[in-house]
Amino acid sequence: MAEPASALTFPPATAERRFTDAERAAVLANPGFGDHFTDFMAHARWTREGGWGGDEVIPYGPLALDPATAVLHYAQEIFEGLKAFRHADGSVWTFRPEKNAERMQASAVRLALPPLPTEDFLASLRAVVAADEPWVPVPTAGSEQSLYLRPFMFASEAFLGVRAAHTVDYYVIASPAGNYFPRGVQPLVVWVSDTYARAGQGGTGAAKCGGNYASSLLGKYEAAGNGADEVMFLDSETHTRIDELSGMNVFAITDDGRIITPTLTGSILPGVTRDSILRLAEDRGLAPSSEPLVFAEVLEQLGAGRIVEMFACGTAAVINPIGEFRFEGGAQTVGDGGSGAHTMALRTELTDIQYGRAEDRHGWLTRLV
Ligand SMILES: Cc1ncc(COP(=O)(O)O)c(C=O)c1O
Repeated sequence: MAEPASALTFPPATAERRFTDAERAAVLANPGFGDHFTDFMAHARWTREGGWGGDEVIPYGPLALDPATAVLHYAQEIFEGLKAFRHADGSVWTFRPEKNAERMQASAVRLALPPLPTEDFLASLRAVVAADEPWVPVPTAGSEQSLYLRPFMFASEAFLGVRAAHTVDYYVIASPAGNYFPRGVQPLVVWVSDTYARAGQGGTGAAKCGGNYASSLLGKYEAAGNGADEVMFLDSETHTRIDELSGMNVFAITDDGRIITPTLTGSILPGVTRDSILRLAEDRGLAPSSEPLVFAEVLEQLGAGRIVEMFACGTAAVINPIGEFRFEGGAQTVGDGGSGAHTMALRTELTDIQYGRAEDRHGWLTRLV
């Protein structure tokens, strides 16, 4: 895809903070995940006539939308998710943001939205994190806190009719984050849905658009109804091959040192964490591969002890072991049901790079502040 020309600078915020130091400290003492938002947000608008412009950093707050705003009816919307990490010297970094920029451009193309140039995407992240710098948690020993960044873009023109909007708004909001799962890093119980799929061939599964998550919700409730933490979707045509979880990619590790993740078929989100693990695994002497993972075969290999570890991965939860699969009529433990050694070693290595505790030998970090 040709890179569109960049145009935006996001001048620094001029408004007052909306929270006092004491209020912010109270939130940072126990941030949870996705529950609290910072003082500022970045904004830009695209129009068919003028392209991208109007870049600004403004106080975080509600948006006033016309009831006919296209996104509310036709779901023309995409988003991204990445984190800002504070290092021991106080500096603030993010992880492979150009991959998120590229994925957002690909999502934009699929949803007939205007791709935002990588430089503009990076400028918007820098602007929000500069304005909200006090919100980037100082990680304490053993804690895993960061500032989660959520860029998103939606059809903001008010009209009824099925066509791409002529006005699009882009925002970046930020949310201080602790563990994604309230229980912390514990082996997940994963429900395998043969009722629902999140995406199909020719659809939007490889794009990060809100609609994919709306279609995953019933599967998540089905999982919860079966005592599971998460749902795993199979391919929509045959219901045999593993696609992914509602918000995470999947990996399996075999007893002969292979580490396998499903091939990107178009119905799977190409995760930045997935891509990074394929690289880190190779460095550890594991043999990485992407290939179709047929769930029935995975069950057989788990039963025979040939697949020894499985895990789920994504920006929010990083890497989380899978301890058990449940499905209609059965269940299967993964390994001994605990946290596998390779899984946890990969997790430690990835987070050590992100927090600046290990050498960034792949050049994955970008300084924000
Ligand atoms: C459906 C889905 N799959 C996979 C991922 C993992 O992607 P990443 O590692 O880029 O966060 C996410 C999270 O963004 C997701 O929402």
